[in-house]
Amino acid sequence: MCGIVGYCGPRVISDILIEGLRRLEYRGYDSAGISITDGDEFTTVKKKGKIKDLASAVPQEIDGLAGIGHTRWATHGEVTDTNAHPHTDNSGKVVIVHNGIIENYEALKSRLKQNGHRFMTQTDSEVIAHLIAELYAGDLEKALLEVLPLLKGTYGLAVMHQDEPGKIVGVRNGSPLVLGVGEDEMFLASDVTAILQYTRDAIYLNDGDLVSVTKDGYKTFDVHHNEVSKNIEQINWEINQIEKDGFPHFMEKEIFEQVESIKRAFTGRLNRDSATGHLGGLDMEPRDLLTVQRVKIIAAGTSYYASIIGAYLIERIARIPAQAELSSEVRYKNPIVEPNTLYFAVSQSGETADTLYAMRELQRKGARVLGLCNVVGSTIARESDGGVYLHSGPEIAVASTKAFTSQLTIFYVFTLILARIRHMGVEDGLDFINALEKVPSQIGELLKKTEELKTLAKKYYTYENFLFLGRGLNYAVALEGALKLKEVSYIHAEGYSAAEIKHGPIALINESTPSLFIVPDDALREKVISNMKEVKARKGRLIAFAVEGDDEVANIADDVFFVPKSHELMYPFLMVLPAQVFAYYCAIELGRNVDQPRNLAKSVTVE
Ligand code: M6R
Repeated sequence: MCGIVGYCGPRVISDILIEGLRRLEYRGYDSAGISITDGDEFTTVKKKGKIKDLASAVPQEIDGLAGIGHTRWATHGEVTDTNAHPHTDNSGKVVIVHNGIIENYEALKSRLKQNGHRFMTQTDSEVIAHLIAELYAGDLEKALLEVLPLLKGTYGLAVMHQDEPGKIVGVRNGSPLVLGVGEDEMFLASDVTAILQYTRDAIYLNDGDLVSVTKDGYKTFDVHHNEVSKNIEQINWEINQIEKDGFPHFMEKEIFEQVESIKRAFTGRLNRDSATGHLGGLDMEPRDLLTVQRVKIIAAGTSYYASIIGAYLIERIARIPAQAELSSEVRYKNPIVEPNTLYFAVSQSGETADTLYAMRELQRKGARVLGLCNVVGSTIARESDGGVYLHSGPEIAVASTKAFTSQLTIFYVFTLILARIRHMGVEDGLDFINALEKVPSQIGELLKKTEELKTLAKKYYTYENFLFLGRGLNYAVALEGALKLKEVSYIHAEGYSAAEIKHGPIALINESTPSLFIVPDDALREKVISNMKEVKARKGRLIAFAVEGDDEVANIADDVFFVPKSHELMYPFLMVLPAQVFAYYCAIELGRNVDQPRNLAKSVTVE
């Protein structure tokens, strides 16, 4: 949830750290800080607020031999200058930045206090600096390796010691850390966005890996301090992908990118000749897939909502029982892993702790878990037993948009593969491919109508509560629409099955609680229209996302936004787009920080 950056090399260190933190700000944005050593002492600047606040607190360029920086998403201790990282020990010789949670910090702290240590912050992280100071005997790597077994919890750590200037030691357990290898410079970061503009050569650390860097090189070690060699991988993202590129916000840019990102998710993965799909990363031949009797999908947040649609589609079209579950719940329910069940762990970032730990628990029980991730080299991508990348490009806005539609795309291709090896014939396979290939241009059509959604947002942004209602494949679109509105505008919104409202939520209906109905022209349309009438009869305001030419819905609703007529299975793509745009414009009207909504972080690496 926090972002870490480290640098050794000839450039102005404060500039590199602040620019890196700016790139990592989406990981956490309540406070930030840097520490730089010039060989004699550390200069540390810490500031509550955004990276721009930190930048203005740095008096001038700070040069030196090495430096570390951190952008915080508070877990333990209030958001204050003092609680911001880096933290130090009482001698001031050790500085650390930490991403993760030290669960046993209270016990460690009271033991350290008995030994005379004085604590300056309310954080869990500070104990690490004190422990290193206590165990240090001239070798930072060694001291850190002695400290690690004492820590219970998760960490991505970068550490410096005044007696070894010019060196940064990093280690990870449960929180990501990547090493960027330059010519005469080295970088450490929580993710590659911080180093992309300087180097394409990256080493993704695994849990238990320790790395020691100076400007001249790096060494990687295992937990027993044995040197190990790691592969350098190429970062294939482009710098313009992490820029706003003329858009006012990343969220809007990423919404508009969906024409291309959906295309990228299916390109090379659909085969007209055989009327099926191919997902090489699954590493499963048709004969392996034939043995699959059940599909289970674990995920969190928006990825979970995409997974609900994926499960629905697999069951309905491929006729294989399928179920999506919240990863946070799976981990602790002692899940039953049955033979012939195929699991997916779905995560844009590939770092979500709930999903990662649930995946590991399933693997411990013998499950084959495939990863569906966007971030290349992420932990879930590396630890899963095969998988598929979304190829959406970096998603920087905290509210996920393009990753959702790319996840859907992969589930559609997977469904096609499963269905074709069972009962689906060539003609139906081709119909499916045709329909899916049309989606990007239909999204393009919708994006020409964003002004209509802006007008809708201007009309409704003052309402304090919303219901989002949909059914079937579009039930989870309602959930996602409500989540988007909540996240970026802070308007309270609940997503429900349109059929469910009569079982309780209809009690909320009055003139000041609008209901946004998703009404595709599918088999459930009539029933959804009945649900709309039930709301109208109770004086509820109605907004409908409906299919072009649906006058009946237009006549019932107070406001309607039309999507193009499509294959009935493709409506989740077309219905979620206006929900994203509507949420975006409501947030703009309310003057919210769209890309970095309060209290949130892009990648949730704590439980
Ligand atoms: O990186 P992941 O897809 O695993 O993230 C899961 C959720 O944290 C994420 O979708 C979250 O709900 C977003 N803020 C949604 O916009």
